[in-house]
Amino acid sequence: PVPVLAIDGPSASGKGTVAARVAAALGFDHLDSGALYRIVALAALEKGVALDDEAALAGLAAALPARFEGDKVLLDGRDVSDAIRSEACSVGASRVAALPAVREALFWRQRAYRRGPGLVGEGRDMGSVIFPDAQVKIFLTASAEARADRRYKQLIDKGMPANMDDLLRDLRERDERDSRRAVAPLRKEDDAALLDTSDMTVGQAVDFVMAEAAA
Ligand code: CDP
Repeated sequence: PVPVLAIDGPSASGKGTVAARVAAALGFDHLDSGALYRIVALAALEKGVALDDEAALAGLAAALPARFEGDKVLLDGRDVSDAIRSEACSVGASRVAALPAVREALFWRQRAYRRGPGLVGEGRDMGSVIFPDAQVKIFLTASAEARADRRYKQLIDKGMPANMDDLLRDLRERDERDSRRAVAPLRKEDDAALLDTSDMTVGQAVDFVMAEAAA
């Protein structure tokens, strides 16, 4: 079977960057599962579907005309890579992700994602629900302060307004919601290796995952 690496962890832990670099280094495909929940949120906001209408949202998710092309995300052929990163879609994604019927509708799409010579899956439930059979499972995290600090620097780099206290509060709220929900709550599984990147560079985190993959 084709190797699968599952990388799960909280918001702004750097798992996206690490997953993309590891996938590139190994020549593997990269599944950004969070993007799927973000696309469902965007489609719902655009179509005026309420973010608590579970049946309608599951219908949207099941028939989602979405594609990944390189590092672009397309919805109905439209490039929505930036649109899905908006604050509204971040909040919307974590709301629709709490609904069991939405997660179910996205299950097979994730299982069937192209796996090239291998796959790096990144999200909250890669190792627990989607790829419980993954050869490598990593729980990639960092302290709330380190994560808020990284997001702060990203925003400042982009010339956007940023406030450390607001960022820290938002992160803690999202951590709460993601860990408290009934389905696929965010937590480290027993069979996942813990990678705390609070005091690590991206390069060091990538090296850790590559070493796990080679073991
Ligand atoms: O970049 P960040 O970690 O903030 O967000 P993301 O990975 O794009 O995920 C957006 C939201 O989707 C999260 O807040 C989770 O609630 C949800 N999600 C999930 O429930 N399961 C996944 N496998 C991936 C994301």
